[in-house]
Amino acid sequence: MMQDIVMTGDRPTGPMHVGHYFGALKKRFEMQDDCRCFFMVADYQALSTHADRSSEIEANVIGMVRDYLAAGFDPEKAVCFLQSQVPQLTELTVILSNLVTLSRLLRNPTTKQEMADLNRQSSFAFVGYPVSQAADILMMRPRYVPVGPDQRPHIELAREIAQRFNNQFGELFPIPEGVYGEQFGGTDGGGKMSTSLGNAINLCDDPETIERKVDAMQTDPARVRRNDPGTPERCPVHGFHKGIGTDSLNQIEDGCRSATFGCVECKRKLTTGFDALIEPIGERRSRYTDEDVRDILQHGGAIARITAQRTLEAVKDAIGFNYAILQ
Ligand code: TRP
Repeated sequence: MMQDIVMTGDRPTGPMHVGHYFGALKKRFEMQDDCRCFFMVADYQALSTHADRSSEIEANVIGMVRDYLAAGFDPEKAVCFLQSQVPQLTELTVILSNLVTLSRLLRNPTTKQEMADLNRQSSFAFVGYPVSQAADILMMRPRYVPVGPDQRPHIELAREIAQRFNNQFGELFPIPEGVYGEQFGGTDGGGKMSTSLGNAINLCDDPETIERKVDAMQTDPARVRRNDPGTPERCPVHGFHKGIGTDSLNQIEDGCRSATFGCVECKRKLTTGFDALIEPIGERRSRYTDEDVRDILQHGGAIARITAQRTLEAVKDAIGFNYAILQ
């Protein structure tokens, strides 16, 4: 039986956090058993926001692949590669750029938000990175693309480009389906956990760091004293209990509402929950060296290039770029 193909990736701009884990990583590593999976480290995409700090990217690449391994990536089952090690992706980006208008790119809500956060003029590469992402995706001709919810506009664009290519040049690309995880909130009670917002609990955090971050979290603002009844729905700590799937959550909620369970105990329980989640992740992380990561990426790059070359040749054939005169 043909296995479904899965393609996804992340940009190496910092450590992976619990939001990544629940929003994307957990689901994608579950797919390794039944699907042919490609996991890409988007270093060129990281360059589009970090061009002035490009030398930092290498350490982030290594840290990220170790986080993948820690969170369940199995190099025996799936392929992990670096975007910059597959030059065919760049070629496909150039070709696909012709199928998108500039105004379509400027309407993308995720890039718009990121441009606002960047606080400076956006480069050509930055505005265009969703096209390069469409090339990453379509190159492997996947059925599924498991990502966080903020990636939806990019997946939509990749689907549009695939449709347009197929209509114009003949059926070549399967239309990929996004598989979306849930957004995980930040420790500041904000809507999104993000390293750049400084509200993240990282997969590589040690127990002391986790305790400090949980201690600093806000609770229900209306529950000032221990004896005041609380409202779990208004409490960021409660949101985390739900997010990580703390057991007997009903009891905690009842205890909060009846003021029999205090915020300090509730936070302690959350810290324990995080420790239980992250401890085995840290243990797996420590099993791999930087050298292992290098070997994995080298091997993955070789495999990804073979698949990519096959697609690129089919694309060039379809657009009439295998010139007879040169054969
Ligand atoms: N945009 C993704 C991120 O911000 C990274 C990425 C690049 C990606 N190419 C991809 C994700 C292809 C899925 C598929 O993390």
